[in-house]
Amino acid sequence: MPDPTDKQRKRSRVHQLMEAACGNAVRPGPAVSELVLDGIGKRYGETVALRAASLSFTPGIHTILGENGSGKSTMLKILSGVVSPSEGRLLLDGREITAGSPRQMQDRGLSTVFQEVFIAPHRTVADNIFLGTNGFVRRVLSKTQTRAAAERLLGLLARFPIDPGAPAGSLPLAAQQIVVIARAFARLPSILLLDEATAALDYADRDRVFETVEDYARAGAVVIFISHRLEEVKRLSDRVTVLRNGHLVETLRREAVSSQRLLDLMAPEAHLHAD
Ligand SMILES: Nc1ncnc2c1ncn2[C@@H]1O[C@H](COP(=O)(O)OP(=O)(O)O)[C@@H](O)[C@H]1O
Ligand SMILES: [Mg+2]
Repeated sequence: MPDPTDKQRKRSRVHQLMEAACGNAVRPGPAVSELVLDGIGKRYGETVALRAASLSFTPGIHTILGENGSGKSTMLKILSGVVSPSEGRLLLDGREITAGSPRQMQDRGLSTVFQEVFIAPHRTVADNIFLGTNGFVRRVLSKTQTRAAAERLLGLLARFPIDPGAPAGSLPLAAQQIVVIARAFARLPSILLLDEATAALDYADRDRVFETVEDYARAGAVVIFISHRLEEVKRLSDRVTVLRNGHLVETLRREAVSSQRLLDLMAPEAHLHAD
């Protein structure tokens, strides 16, 4: 009988293909078992974007659901070290940390796909995927390695062909979105954050990304997936936290998730809009 802990430690498809392309040159993020927000809040002048949020993230897929303006991106930017909180603490495996900069959080094994698609338009797709990976690789990757890794990652994530040698700015938005998702995976993060990362993708194109994310989480990563779409939240969530007006309303386990319950939590006053 296989030991269930062995199964948990099974390497993800992304880990396997990165190793096939780059050997052990890419260093996987350090293992993480818990990331905690303790009373984290953020104010922008009069606007309270996030109010004293306390929440624990563990391996698996934890989705954050909420309408526009509910504070989802603010939470993710705080975790990514882009925005500093007005109050509260962050703890990584029980130790208080300061998310002083994106670089600092990346060094702790965290990768983020931001809601805005950031690419260097004149650089190639392969260069964009390996942009800023200096600290993650043990030695400089050759052009052959980055190209092979880019090709494999894109093949895993997209149903349509994307040329790793094309200037990233020449691609349609959907392909650019795949490129930034591939960039986040290429760092082999222990904590992967995705903010509305499939917004520019067709329904059919999202499926590949979801499968890759599910497989990655099963191999032991903490995945935080932000969305305002019920369907993807229902599909992906091991746990879901609903935000409303900067308030953390409730966290549900997968078994407790239903469309009606999520809608009630998200926008209790908007019942008539349900399905
Ligand atoms: N840089 C900023 N300056 C001022 N207000 C902001 C800023 N970023 C976000 N907000 C406000 O904070 C609230 C939450 O925004 P956000 O976290 O982007 O929500 P969501 O991602 O759920 O749509 C909104 O009212 C938004 O207008
Ligand atoms: Mg947002």
